[in-house]
Amino acid sequence: MQKIVIVGGNRLTGRVEVAGSKNATLPVMAATILAPGKSVITNVPRLRDVITMKQMLETLGARVTLEHGALTLDTSGCGSHEAPYELVKTMRASVYVLGPLLARFKHAKVSLPGGCAWGPRPVDLHIKAMEGLGARVTIEHGYIVAEADELRGANLHFDISSVGATGNAMMAACLAKGKTVLSNAACEPEIDALAQFLNRMGAKISGIGTQVVEIEGVESLRPAEIAVIPDRIEAGTFMAAAAITKGTVRIANCNPSHLTSVISKLSEAGAHIMQEGSELVVSAADRPGAVNVSTAPYPGFPTDMQAQMMALMCTAQGTSVFVENIYSDRFTHVGELRRMNADINVEGNVATVKGLGKLSGAQVMATDLRASAALILAGLVAEGKTEVSRIYHIDRGYEAIEKKLSALGAKIWREEE
Ligand code: EPZ
Repeated sequence: MQKIVIVGGNRLTGRVEVAGSKNATLPVMAATILAPGKSVITNVPRLRDVITMKQMLETLGARVTLEHGALTLDTSGCGSHEAPYELVKTMRASVYVLGPLLARFKHAKVSLPGGCAWGPRPVDLHIKAMEGLGARVTIEHGYIVAEADELRGANLHFDISSVGATGNAMMAACLAKGKTVLSNAACEPEIDALAQFLNRMGAKISGIGTQVVEIEGVESLRPAEIAVIPDRIEAGTFMAAAAITKGTVRIANCNPSHLTSVISKLSEAGAHIMQEGSELVVSAADRPGAVNVSTAPYPGFPTDMQAQMMALMCTAQGTSVFVENIYSDRFTHVGELRRMNADINVEGNVATVKGLGKLSGAQVMATDLRASAALILAGLVAEGKTEVSRIYHIDRGYEAIEKKLSALGAKIWREEE
């Protein structure tokens, strides 16, 4: 296994380019199952999760090539309806094939994803949506087995505005007979991007970007092309890196309109943020001021930026309170940050962070994708050396993060454990 080593203390300066969004790429890849033929997805990030979804689609019979950031997916040959445990257990987003398989083949067998580092992460809302569209769903030996004579449009309300369940329901509803209305739908940019792609395939989706989405079912869909939107969480992570090192970083190829809550929160903490078209220039001269963070569905503060923001607040002047409202226990990074001398107290879904003048480098362990980003951010400013182990977590969602940070002046490299 590999680790990332950081020697803290360098201010970051320079320009970094944001890659395509992981969380937009994965559902769009799954959506190609809906239309036999060749679809093309460009601006695809080079990430482990994209390779996993490629393998998943190939297991289902598709032919997928990835060259120079462009995916060509020919799903004409799809015949299997089974998403195996071996793949699903490594990436929860594999469950995105459920809706498309059911819509195209009227049959799907998808392994339950199991839990992750910070909780059970059920898929009950996905199943409820499929049943709402007329499928019969049973759980057999750890698999979701869904069958339908036909899918019929329905009014589906989500108790929780689930990103994944909204995506699955939207994809299945495209080929259902009649109209489907999704209420309390997730309106994350990645779901909007999925809806845009589906409409390019010939779907009839309206209300995109709102919490009430209408889908008029159609007879069939055709392959399409799309360029993946920028990854707002990668952009936010580099914004936090500029702030924690008191540097000045130009973040290029991002979409500032997807980052309003992060821009607002970092500005409140004292960072200076300028927007220039598709670029953000983030600079900070001093330690940040303490700010409180409460995660919420888009456009609220993203849960996927909670750990990175907490790393920043570990160096703040004052005490900040984090409330994690999306997941029951997304604080696995706290124990590791404490090893770096952070002063954090957790009670339930509330973490209280007392900012300190400095953190100390230590050996720490990545537990999930965004927690590992937080540990790297802390290492950039900690005294001495920090070694982050199990960095396969970070490779799931960040393209060569150590190379991008090193190009900005960080003392950071990757080596074998
Ligand atoms: C997506 O996961 C993202 N993943 C996650 O990003 C992100 O943290 C999450 O949305 C929330 O924004 C991808 O897009 C691939 P949810 P998803 O369904 O769809 C509960 C990252 O770091 N829930 O919106 O799985 C669930 O437990 C990853 O890139 C149910 O109860 O998230 C959670 O508490 C991590 N039943 C809440 O809803 C369900 O059937 C939101 O989950 C589904 C979800």
